[in-house]
Amino acid sequence: MPRLSSLLPTIKHLYRNYKACKRMPYIPEIKITDDLILSSATKKEINKLKEFKTAADGHYGIPWYLTSLIFRRKLCFVIRKANGKTIAYRTFYFNEDDIRRGTVHDSFRYVVKEERRKGYGNLLVETTEQYFENHTSIKGFTSKVLESNIASAKCILKQGYRIISWENNDEGERINYYLKNL
Ligand SMILES: CC(C)(COP(=O)(O)OP(=O)(O)OC[C@H]1O[C@@H](n2cnc3c(N)ncnc32)[C@H](O)[C@@H]1OP(=O)(O)O)[C@@H](O)C(=O)NCCC(=O)NCCS
Repeated sequence: MPRLSSLLPTIKHLYRNYKACKRMPYIPEIKITDDLILSSATKKEINKLKEFKTAADGHYGIPWYLTSLIFRRKLCFVIRKANGKTIAYRTFYFNEDDIRRGTVHDSFRYVVKEERRKGYGNLLVETTEQYFENHTSIKGFTSKVLESNIASAKCILKQGYRIISWENNDEGERINYYLKNL
């Protein structure tokens, strides 16, 4: 049996996200172009996202997965082609900083390999943030991105994010902490 103290961070994380999501609407299907739809993720897509995050980061974190799964209709987006193929994924959650600032955290973005470098990474950031701006009271976004991840950083810099602090991970790589106020 895990000790209660070891479960406390997960419980706090879920409760914080529950409270922050309570008054947020469900994500509707939004037509981006004749061929592309922005939508909330299905359970199957969240499980795919877990696979992608594990491959990218080497771990996904139980609080991250539970938050994505439970609040997938409020915080997890996908872009699908008209033929039904899911090509891009983005998920958010609320950390303690976000609650203080009224922002939401850009947790993970992913474009399937064969569709990269076609502008979908930029489109994913732009369309999901327009959604928050138009349909919620979110005041901005936070994100943590490895400095070496040029493509990922470019997508958010283009949308007006700026670096507010940075830290090194266990491998000594620099991770920049970004903020964008709406
Ligand atoms: C990050 C990611 C979502 C970007 O998706 P994408 O569809 O390739 O992005 P875009 O085609 O819109 O390109 C975005 C910008 O990055 C540039 N870019 C894309 N791939 C690049 C690469 N390998 N090296 C350098 N620049 C790159 C593009 O030229 C474009 O620049 P511009 O806006 O100045 O024209 C995608 O690479 C990915 O899924 N990576 C694996 C997961 C990951 O790292 N997620 C982010 C962690 S939160």
